[in-house]
Amino acid sequence: MTSDIPLQVLGGISARQFLRDYWQKKPLLIRQAIPEFQSPISPDELAGLSLEEEVESRLVIERGDRPWELRRGPFSEDTYQQLPEKDWTLLVQAVDQLVPDVADLLEHFRFLPNWRIDDVMISYAAPGGGVGPHYDNYDVFLLQAHGKRRWRIGQMCDSDSPLLPHDDLRILADFQGTDEWVLEPGDMLYLPPRLAHFGTAEDACMTYSVGFRAPSAAEVLTHFTDFLAQFLPDEERYGDADLQPVEDPFEIQRDALERLKGLLAEHMGDERLLLTWFGQFMTEPRYPERVEGAELALADFRSAIRDGAVLVRNPSARLAWSEVDIGLLLFASGQSRLLPAGLRDLLRLVCSADALHVDNLSPWVDNEDARTLLWELVKQGSLEFADE
Ligand code: SIN
Ligand code: CO
Repeated sequence: MTSDIPLQVLGGISARQFLRDYWQKKPLLIRQAIPEFQSPISPDELAGLSLEEEVESRLVIERGDRPWELRRGPFSEDTYQQLPEKDWTLLVQAVDQLVPDVADLLEHFRFLPNWRIDDVMISYAAPGGGVGPHYDNYDVFLLQAHGKRRWRIGQMCDSDSPLLPHDDLRILADFQGTDEWVLEPGDMLYLPPRLAHFGTAEDACMTYSVGFRAPSAAEVLTHFTDFLAQFLPDEERYGDADLQPVEDPFEIQRDALERLKGLLAEHMGDERLLLTWFGQFMTEPRYPERVEGAELALADFRSAIRDGAVLVRNPSARLAWSEVDIGLLLFASGQSRLLPAGLRDLLRLVCSADALHVDNLSPWVDNEDARTLLWELVKQGSLEFADE
């Protein structure tokens, strides 16, 4: 089994061992997870991204206008000229959507479901820079990309853990360090959710955070019930055709609760609807404005493919597929499509291939369902023509 092969990126343990012993449980320091790693993006290029309107970036300045001052991008050349020599950090979100070589790093994490991956955030810190002791609600792999960073880890936290008074950042008031390491380029630290951590730049350094996401229980409940409610007619209501005469008319009786539980179970237990909602929800793009559709006639699409056009995934699109009793579901950037079971290999290809072209699409060129699907994905913006 490939999941039992020792992986360098996990420090010589297999994906199965990592998931059993560390994932969501405890930290793992991996020296030279990616040997001789060289950042595909330089600090200057990272700062350049933070000047762009559509890029999400932040600066944390330890002794700015106030302790741990947070500024939100886009920034200007002036911002950088005015920064102190030391003790600040620039953080740029979702660089994997902007730099293909950064997206390629995600290939190391293919033993995890793709829908769990959030983004690759890259930080650049001046010497001494850090964002303060904190915890995140997500798993993260912190890959050292340039220079050295000291990581200290501490206690497990939760929403009761005391924080410093701060409007924008959740900095722990009390950090109880347990271990610390200095990471060099290629070293990586895995942290489970809620573990306190505190990184400080030993020298000017860059760190990549491969961040994961997990919906909160509150999100699952509110979003799924909103989704379900659209399919429920107003006349579908609490019913008590089996009601018995009551002893005390002011008591809410146990049998009312049983009927309510039955009503909830009937709707919440619909697996196809649950899967449809979940796939749509988890493939919502992080930046929907980057997944914009285009008008395209089916005939033009067909001739473009026939003439050798290459399709690529929009780096900001999210794709996933799943099986249901009546076929397959493809989820693309918040939308779902029910498709015949025969398209399974095409769905796998659409989700994973670097590019789609006459060669790898050849089994489907004469398949009407396949052509329509690809056409719709281009119109929706999840796939794009490579030369666009
Ligand atoms: C950083 O890269 O400075 C912050 C990453 C983190 O602690 O989540
Ligand atoms: Co963190």
